Amino acid sequence: MKVNIKTDLITKISSDVITLGVDDKNQIINSSKLDRKTVSYLSNILALGDIPEKLGSAIVIHGDHFYPKVILIRIGNPKNLTSNQFYNVVLTIAEELKSLQFKTLLLPINQFINPSLSANVVAEYLVRGLIDASYVVNSLKTINKVKKNIFQTIIHYDGSDLKQVKNGVRHGEAVMEGGNLTKDLGNLPPNICTPKYLASIATKLGKEYKFKVSILDKKKIEKLRMGSFLSVAKGSREEPRFIIMEHIKGPKNQKPIVLVGKGITFDAGGISIKPSADMDEMKYDMGGAASVMGVMKTVGALNLPLNIIALIPSCENLPDGLAVKPGDIVTSMSGQTIEILNTDAEGRLILCDALTYAERYKPETVIDVATLTGACVIGLGHHATGLFSNYDPLASELEEAGIRALDKAWKMPLWDEYQPQLNSNFADMANIGGRAGGSITAACFLSRFAKKFNWAHLDIAGTAWKSGKEKGSTGRPVALLSQFLIKRSGK
Ligand code: BES
Ligand code: MN
Ligand code: ZN
Repeated sequence: MKVNIKTDLITKISSDVITLGVDDKNQIINSSKLDRKTVSYLSNILALGDIPEKLGSAIVIHGDHFYPKVILIRIGNPKNLTSNQFYNVVLTIAEELKSLQFKTLLLPINQFINPSLSANVVAEYLVRGLIDASYVVNSLKTINKVKKNIFQTIIHYDGSDLKQVKNGVRHGEAVMEGGNLTKDLGNLPPNICTPKYLASIATKLGKEYKFKVSILDKKKIEKLRMGSFLSVAKGSREEPRFIIMEHIKGPKNQKPIVLVGKGITFDAGGISIKPSADMDEMKYDMGGAASVMGVMKTVGALNLPLNIIALIPSCENLPDGLAVKPGDIVTSMSGQTIEILNTDAEGRLILCDALTYAERYKPETVIDVATLTGACVIGLGHHATGLFSNYDPLASELEEAGIRALDKAWKMPLWDEYQPQLNSNFADMANIGGRAGGSITAACFLSRFAKKFNWAHLDIAGTAWKSGKEKGSTGRPVALLSQFLIKRSGK
């Protein structure tokens, strides 16, 4: 989708499709700006009463040669339209567009703007919603392949905040570039999206946006003594990779923000093997890594003036004669020993060494992103990402970014009371803490490797992908993290 912003008189812009809001009095919103003939034609149609009163209800009608197709959508009182409602309106428009043949879409945005819904937010949500909804899986189908309609969106704006509109469009586009990369990576089959493949995409990103990328192979990972990460990788013939991306575009003395993404490209559970049902979905267990890479793309596209490091430990978790066993004790890079009681709790085992590696950057903030626990899905369902932090102001910042980006996270406790569940008779800690509060004890485990910096952990087990008929990656939490970084950059 291409986006153009136009500020000419709207009566001068013709388009294959125009989208117009209808208020609670059954009138076209802002109709005084439109051509009189068009308005009278549309008013007659509205008088037939076919648009339900429910906010977001839409119909498509045929217009004249100037606007051959018109999407009429119920907005209610435009002064009361909230950002959430507006985003749903955009998704409905996108849905209607799917059944239309067209090349240009005209969207006058003044009709949606009100004191609590700024021009900036309207422009950003519009771009994000339209791109998000028109995502097509790059499938390996050889028949009945869905074709993507490439069209141009003309945003018409008439007002004094043009700069804000441009900013909204730019941010919306960049967030979706990142989000779509995350979706593409997640949706790939695990025989293609291997640790090596993720590394190759990281290298490509570095070339495209001119940041440094280092790929550490098994030998180098051994040299770093990442015993915990390596214990997971042992059960697979695919070699592990430790991926490092360094976007250093901020002031020289500015401490970096480090993002860490769980990159398990397939999680069969290891010797503590998972049941077969839905096991294919464990290809999404690299969702943390994919979202961190997506964010690096967004950050690169916007050339954000920040110092950002991305760390991705990546391997498979499979059962094998050489695989790590329940009862095995391994030594993490930090020196702390871990008794592995369940090989399926592997995410924390690869992340803990990445967190220790992060220490060398003397980071201002470290945020890890991981499809870490089924317990998080039980606790929060599929709407909120689990948010844990050892520093409350950081948690609040992320919470707020999630709300603004429509990519919400919900704060969970990380109290010391939970820590003893990780006690082991034989090592410094066990890698599981029992069924009670499973997502919390997983976070508690990670917190033991994050003592030297402000840290937050995002458990995206419930939000990174959808199951069932709509199976596919959601691209979350790229929007949340991008918003957090955009805000930090002051842009
Ligand atoms: N990748 C899974 C978590 C997961 C499971 C995410 C289902 C989404 C849906 C993780 O590696 C895992 O297997 N966690 C175990 C931990 C348990 C053994 C303590 C889990 O949640 O069952
Ligand atoms: Mn697992
Ligand atoms: Zn896993």
